[in-house]
Amino acid sequence: MDGWFWSSAIVAFVGLIGLLLYLIISHFMPLYLKLGVAPKGSFGWPLVGETLSFLSPHASNTLGSFLQDHCNRYGKVFKSHLFCSPTVVSCDQELNNFILQNEEKLFQCSYPKPIHGILGTSSMLVVVGDTHKRLRSLALTLVSTTKSKPEYLNDIERIAIQIMDAWKDKKEVIFCEEARKFTFNVIVKQVLGLTPEEPQTSKILEDFLTFMKGLISFPLYIPGTPYARAVQARARISSTVKAIVEERRSKGENSAGNKKSDFLEILLSANSLSEDERVSFVLDSLLGGYETTSLLMALAVLFLGQSPAALQQLRSEHESIRNVKGKEEYLNWDDYKKMEFTQHVINEALRCGNIVKFVHRKALKDVRFKDYSIPCGWKVLPVFSAVHLDTSLHGSVLDFHPWRWENQSQSTCKIFTPFGGGPRFCPGSELAKVETAFFLHHLVLNFRWTTEGVDQPMAYPYVEFHRGMPLKVDRLG
Ligand code: HEM
Repeated sequence: MDGWFWSSAIVAFVGLIGLLLYLIISHFMPLYLKLGVAPKGSFGWPLVGETLSFLSPHASNTLGSFLQDHCNRYGKVFKSHLFCSPTVVSCDQELNNFILQNEEKLFQCSYPKPIHGILGTSSMLVVVGDTHKRLRSLALTLVSTTKSKPEYLNDIERIAIQIMDAWKDKKEVIFCEEARKFTFNVIVKQVLGLTPEEPQTSKILEDFLTFMKGLISFPLYIPGTPYARAVQARARISSTVKAIVEERRSKGENSAGNKKSDFLEILLSANSLSEDERVSFVLDSLLGGYETTSLLMALAVLFLGQSPAALQQLRSEHESIRNVKGKEEYLNWDDYKKMEFTQHVINEALRCGNIVKFVHRKALKDVRFKDYSIPCGWKVLPVFSAVHLDTSLHGSVLDFHPWRWENQSQSTCKIFTPFGGGPRFCPGSELAKVETAFFLHHLVLNFRWTTEGVDQPMAYPYVEFHRGMPLKVDRLG
């Protein structure tokens, strides 16, 4: 009796252990198998993973110690745990290109949820699938119809001249503030038709600055926090934009034959858009067109100040363009097309300055690429700065050398992605470049400048100059 009891108990016990083992293995094995083939790397701390080290600030023309250390240890593609998700980080040019080109097929744009809270659910950075296609095609139409129009180009120049005229009695300016003033006034004029003097412009600017602070803040919705203030600021900008839209609509209806000249009127006549999509469209344009473009200008001015040969060549290019035009005559699209060296300067400022360090994607299915395997549902971060600073792709990576862009072919776009790539390539890239080129035209023809002390642009990962780049300016005779 005793023997039978003990042998039955042992069988039951072994059976139970077997069942437990089976349950554990069947539950964890698929995950283990997935992890087994994912790139090497470490997950770091529970929940936060390695997010804090990934985001730790560094000079924007360097990789930063996190990426440097991880690439040395695990290679250019490694796994990590970032933004609360298992992640594959890619510093590999071919994988980055593969990710960008396979948008909506194997990968999908996937910004962290708190960003959706601020940008709104209709923002182009948030929407996917057919909605994204619809909004994007309108953005491309708007850019292609406005970018070379004399009204738009003249506005850019007029605002640039206005900003520099105000430097007349100044010895020093905080260049980042001046550049932001310029890009904000250009984009608000282009999108909403507002001049800097109109009261609505300063109201939008004030709310917009609060909105921007929230984008980079801790996402805690408690009244008074920068995040909550940003969500409220977005609501206020929405009502201001809605009021402008309404006003424009009623004016349009009242004046027969009113030509659809500006951005807003084209936007108004796009029947496929809901009211919320229209407002989001305006916000996306302000957001896209403001900070990034002013940073590009600041980076170009910083690097030119450190490279007398590049500045001299740039000045000669603009002098020869100005020499065949009247002193007061506005630049046109043909003049812009002649600014070849300016384009090299802009490209090099983008490569060295890395305004957008990486973009957010997720894998839609298990993806195999070369030796790497990326499990379905994981976050995927293609890091553009790593490719721009890759010594196997660019010679003397730390040097500002605009001449490297001479005689470059189409394939360059695979190793140079400051505006992203594939179906989400930045629709505003040409606007940012023409604004920068026209501003530089007036700057190099009228001013000498020197930077005051060292103000290294830092990647937080959004790029910022600690002191806003103070410049000593001196008007040329
Ligand atoms: C130097 C200036 C600029 C830089 C470096 C820049 C960079 C980028 C990058 C990297 C993306 C891709 C994001 C992704 O793939 O997830 C992007 C998208 C976008 N940019 Fe820009 N941008 C600049 C200027 C502008 C301007 C002037 C505008 C509008 C006036 C603009 C509007 C947008 C919009 C709406 C998107 C979303 C496109 C989509 O998801 O299809 N950007 N930008």
